[in-house]
Amino acid sequence: MDFSEKVVIVTGAARGLGQEYARQFAKLGANVAVNDLRDCAETLSIIEAEGQQGLIATTDVTSADSTRKMAEAVIRKFGRIDVLVNNAGLYGSLTFQPFDRLDEDEWDRTMNVNVKGLWQCCKAVLPAMKEQQSGSIVNISSLAATYGMPNGLHYTASKAAVLGLTRGLARELGRYSIRVNAVAPNVVDTDATSEVFGDKRDKVIEVTLLQQAIRKPLQAEDIVGAVLYLASDHSKMTTGQTIMVDGGTVML
Ligand SMILES: NC(=O)c1ccc[n+]([C@@H]2O[C@H](COP(=O)([O-])OP(=O)(O)OC[C@H]3O[C@@H](n4cnc5c(N)ncnc54)[C@H](O)[C@@H]3O)[C@@H](O)[C@H]2O)c1
Repeated sequence: MDFSEKVVIVTGAARGLGQEYARQFAKLGANVAVNDLRDCAETLSIIEAEGQQGLIATTDVTSADSTRKMAEAVIRKFGRIDVLVNNAGLYGSLTFQPFDRLDEDEWDRTMNVNVKGLWQCCKAVLPAMKEQQSGSIVNISSLAATYGMPNGLHYTASKAAVLGLTRGLARELGRYSIRVNAVAPNVVDTDATSEVFGDKRDKVIEVTLLQQAIRKPLQAEDIVGAVLYLASDHSKMTTGQTIMVDGGTVML
């Protein structure tokens, strides 16, 4: 795959999966704009070490104003937007427990970032993609949505909403040759996974592996291939779809 001359935005790219996507896009020749509420300096150095140009747009994905400014900054620097990877999400900071004990504020924050945040970012890149009559949006959902993960209903519901958003938007934007797809990973060994499961992390990974056809724990680099494929012209007639990267847990 070749992303030379392409401009990619990866949201939530300060660490974890987002940082890995940014690294691999840069490795394949893309200029990559990254955003997060955290400091993205490390990710920028990774992009530059791959010989590409980067841009940090400190953005709150839930804000229309902030995401619009992000898209404007990318256009000012690079002149186009080919790919948006909607990776930013609330996951590591969440409390997973039975649904009737979930905190109401945490429910609202989860929906706000994991669902409304994607909507805002999609709106922000639309003018550029529409003018180009091309673009690929890749939304990061989760196995939680398709498997129906218990004890994290806010997260599960938010990631299921990502699939609905993906399908509806794919139908709205197809006429402009803008594609919208989703990737749904199983539990990946990231800092956020350690934060969310704490001392139960190893047990959760052990149980997760029992449900996977391929009994190996997922690493960040295992998710990237599906994102790159959906972002690239190799999938130019694919839209509204979800690729599970879950070691063979849910088979669509
Ligand atoms: N790690 C996993 O096991 C796993 C599995 C399935 C799906 N996912 C999804 O993949 C994505 C990345 O996961 P990760 O493990 O790297 O988690 P992570 O917490 O390291 O990454 C998410 C990033 O989003 C940023 N973010 C949160 N709110 C934001 C906001 N309002 N504006 C901008 N940025 C914001 C966070 O600061 C963080 O850096 C998330 O959407 C997560 O739900 C992760």
